[in-house]
Amino acid sequence: MRIVLRIGGSVMASPVNVELMSKYAAIVKKLRKQGHKIVVVVGGGSLAREFISTAKNLGLNMQAQDEIAISVSRLIAQLFLKKLGDVACDKVALTLDDAATCLSQSRVVVMGGLKPGITTDAVAALVAEHVGGELLVKGTDQDGIYNKDPRKHSDAVKLDRLSFDDLQGVFSESQHKAGMHQIIDPEAVKVLKRKRVKLVVVDGFKPENILAAIKGEKVGTVVE
Ligand code: UTP
Repeated sequence: MRIVLRIGGSVMASPVNVELMSKYAAIVKKLRKQGHKIVVVVGGGSLAREFISTAKNLGLNMQAQDEIAISVSRLIAQLFLKKLGDVACDKVALTLDDAATCLSQSRVVVMGGLKPGITTDAVAALVAEHVGGELLVKGTDQDGIYNKDPRKHSDAVKLDRLSFDDLQGVFSESQHKAGMHQIIDPEAVKVLKRKRVKLVVVDGFKPENILAAIKGEKVGTVVE
């Protein structure tokens, strides 16, 4: 199966969690051995947000703030790529075509951000579209999608399974802002819906959830 793993910067890079990154590397190697083609998209996490705020304080515009955040995400991607060693391509993929080329060599693609104005969720969806991915698994700092933001509402209820249309009703913020944080970017959802890519959102602090999601076991929230 062609699988895109989107590992939240909030999970693996806030700050860089060496133990978790090592576990993710082992899991990606295992999946590749099983014959899956894997693309890993990582975010810049708190380090990216720190740089975004520095860029803002310097009076830089939104595009510049995004460019800085992309560089940070690519730095985290490079760490992960080096940890994977020769199962991964030699360099972090900077374009969708880079990703497709790397995958065609049966190696693991690792990338961060792509271009200003989007999030790494959108990157994950775009790369799934570009390489014909069937499944996007997002490992994040919540254990799934709730009917409202669980950090703001104590009565929020976790949803086990929903359609892409149901998901649109859950969103509050849709305008892009540097460093914005939602359970999944609505722009990514549009692409996934159009291309019928299944999405599973799981607690990324437990990397074994990724394996469970791929096996189709009941974990996190499934959107299709
Ligand atoms: P994300 O918010 O997508 O990454 O990117 P993250 O750290 O993994 O997020 P969480 O915390 O796990 O959800 C951080 C910021 O980088 C810029 C945007 O400003 C985005 O909000 N970015 C990222 C881009 O402009 N383009 C990209 O392709 C990727």
